[in-house]
Amino acid sequence: MFGIKNKICFDTLPTSGPEALFAKYMPKPQVEYPNVGEKNETYLKKVYMQTWGCQMNVADSERMLGLLGTLNYRPTENLNDADFILLNTCHIREKARHKVVSRLGEIRPLKEANPNIIIAVAGCVAQAESQALAKEVPYIDMIFGPDQIEELPTLIEKVIEKNEQERKTEETFTTHKTVPFILTKFDNKEQGYSIPIDVIPPYYDENKSEVTRYVNIIKGCNNFCTFCVVPYTRGREKSRAENEILDEVNFLVNKGVKEIILLGQNVNSYGLDLIGATDVHSSNGKLPFADLLHTVSNVLGVERIRFTTSNPHDFTPTLADAFAKLPKVTNSFHLAVQSGSDRILDRMNRQYTRAEYFERVKWIRDVRPEIAFSTDIIVGFPGETEQDFEDTMSLVQEMQYAFIYAFKYSIRKGTPATRFKDQVPEEIKDRRLQMLLDLQKKETERQNLAEIAKVRNVLILYKNRKEENTWYGRSYEGRLVKVHSPRNIMGLILPVKITDANLIALEGHLA
Ligand code: 5AD
Ligand code: SF4
Repeated sequence: MFGIKNKICFDTLPTSGPEALFAKYMPKPQVEYPNVGEKNETYLKKVYMQTWGCQMNVADSERMLGLLGTLNYRPTENLNDADFILLNTCHIREKARHKVVSRLGEIRPLKEANPNIIIAVAGCVAQAESQALAKEVPYIDMIFGPDQIEELPTLIEKVIEKNEQERKTEETFTTHKTVPFILTKFDNKEQGYSIPIDVIPPYYDENKSEVTRYVNIIKGCNNFCTFCVVPYTRGREKSRAENEILDEVNFLVNKGVKEIILLGQNVNSYGLDLIGATDVHSSNGKLPFADLLHTVSNVLGVERIRFTTSNPHDFTPTLADAFAKLPKVTNSFHLAVQSGSDRILDRMNRQYTRAEYFERVKWIRDVRPEIAFSTDIIVGFPGETEQDFEDTMSLVQEMQYAFIYAFKYSIRKGTPATRFKDQVPEEIKDRRLQMLLDLQKKETERQNLAEIAKVRNVLILYKNRKEENTWYGRSYEGRLVKVHSPRNIMGLILPVKITDANLIALEGHLA
């Protein structure tokens, strides 16, 4: 999915399953810009943004587009039009820097032709490998990490100033070695983090009604799974204050947003840093994330709430209780398992066993029998035997997931698993990945076909750009549904009779 055409590339997401399709057709981030008036239109600058990785990166890109909007930049999908090229990168799997450097190689002729084009690298590769990037690609103008997004306007100012000075010295692209501005400091506040409302872009666009929005609630991770770079690139867990989150939610619903997706690397530990607890098991029974679900649920205008991502370790019955009491929380739950083998879970430092995973799943299924679970799985983790892999296959079979994201283990410098001696050969990883995907494919297809003839409440998310009078939405269980309707049904939750289904999506008519 490393598409050049796509402004947003979901490189860490799988190329199969409903989420992948949704990503492909998902509306582009939309931004409402200051009204500059028609006369000024010709002065608008263009930004080309490419995003890899998780939803956190997508949300960061939206924020950056918003900030750039206030500086009179408008998004373009045409690289050749761009005054500003911004790559928002992901570091979760290997060759991350290599991918970025190769993309920058494709961009180099544009910079040669016009040195005033600003080139920026943001996101986790920028955070983790800024020096190497600057050395390998000296024509980058700025490199900044996820904690420095608010500095973007200042950085642009500095680059423009520098470019003007360099023009005076009449150096050429090839004789002059620029040094990028690098800003990769972690926000080192003890607790909490803030995205003030005035830097949240007013991204709602009247013409392209937006129905679903991400809201960041926590960043970073304290879990230190042995394969994962996130605690190093995004730092320790820091939560946003509840009132700030509420301000944003209110702002969005006032603009017509219906569904809020609460976002964080580990949403279950939301707020623990704010109450001085180290994890959910040492918080005197408090689960601030469950409290937040109640609070957001009480906001008039919020019709659906989803959240991602959850670690089974940070999960108590209080969360199941929230599912029981809050119908706005949808009937889908992404609960990353990573492996079905206790031995591998232990080596991954996941801090739960297979039996504990099933126990937590039961808490939820007891109150929401129809809930659609999804998960993340890594195959070929160091030391994974055929038996360990069989354990993963049997867990997937037993769980009956709606869909899974499956990945081959990828060695990440600086993480503990790099030191494990018993790395699994690539061809074995390939075979296991294929077997797992084949297994899940059959299950997803089975579940989708079983939806035929049922009536599901579907939140209509966007108009199908490829076919007249058709819309895409999500059922309460999170399944993608193509809906036929000649009238504008954007943003409505409507009963839809499912008439057809395939691996990717359901199809139906208004009931
Ligand atoms: N190799 C393979 N997959 C990984 N993930 C995280 N780190 C790695 C790695 N080193 C996967 C996990 C995680 C998802 C976001 O990416 O499954 O849940
Ligand atoms: Fe990475 Fe584990 Fe934290 Fe998820 S819980 S972000 S996999 S360290």
